[in-house]
Amino acid sequence: MSVRRLAEDQFQPASFAFNAENTVFEAATIAKYPEGRQQSAVIPLLMRAQEQDGWVTKATIEYVAQKLSMPYIRVLEVATFYTQFQLKPVGTRAHIQVCGTTPCMLRGSDELIKVCQHKIHHDPFHTNAEGTLSWEEVECQGACVNAPMVIIFKDAYEDLTPERLEQIIDEFEAGKGADVPVGPQNGRHLSAPEGGALTLLDDIKPVRTNLDPKPAPAAEGASVPPADAGHPKDTAPETDKSLKTPVTAPKAAAKNAKEAEKGESTTTSTKPAAKRGSKAEGAPAAEGAVAGEDKPKRTRKAKPEGEA
Ligand code: FES
Repeated sequence: MSVRRLAEDQFQPASFAFNAENTVFEAATIAKYPEGRQQSAVIPLLMRAQEQDGWVTKATIEYVAQKLSMPYIRVLEVATFYTQFQLKPVGTRAHIQVCGTTPCMLRGSDELIKVCQHKIHHDPFHTNAEGTLSWEEVECQGACVNAPMVIIFKDAYEDLTPERLEQIIDEFEAGKGADVPVGPQNGRHLSAPEGGALTLLDDIKPVRTNLDPKPAPAAEGASVPPADAGHPKDTAPETDKSLKTPVTAPKAAAKNAKEAEKGESTTTSTKPAAKRGSKAEGAPAAEGAVAGEDKPKRTRKAKPEGEA
């Protein structure tokens, strides 16, 4: 980016004043801000001054600083920081800002710049011989999908070819810039695909829409079975609800058969062994015995009378 300085003294007018219409705008804009915050109007006032005279002069900066009770340097900082403000005289009929950032460059912005150099002036910020046209290269203007593009005043002209830009420049030079349609210049609608839609062409019926009739509400008091929608689909045999008893494990069946042969056991139960110390299954409990105790219960000897 080049250093942004005010125009040389020979271009600077002696004074600045808003015309009648813009004086009304000035008062209304300043009144929007609360007491003590009028400095917030600095950008709207500078922009309106540029729209009136075509560029921001030194006298304009002094005027705005005095109007908003700001130091001159603070307004100068704003005017030189934002590239939207033109600090030198530009073409009276059109100042063409050519986007040269990567997407536009890949789509041919170099050719657009050559058109400007050929039809206006070799160097940016220089007017043509009549003083009606000028151009500059700018950074991305946020219309990359319609690259390459140019900005003229507040309007964007997109999807350009060198030939189309030449025609647009001629229109502005002839004072017919208002007749040029803004936006895409190749016939496409906004940033939609060229030639029509390319995707989502299948005629797919949505599964359900908000227009489908709602299911009838259940009668009051009627039992509604719980929904199964949130349950995972489980096809494992051990979770089959139709089975009433667990399937005997093959290992346990083999062990029971072996024990029956030896006669060591008469039971074929597959229950796990009773816990150590628990009452034997089936045997009557001894009188006074407590479940889980094998040994006789110790009792405390009665102390002889007179002992504490
Ligand atoms: S790169 Fe040109 S508009 Fe974004």
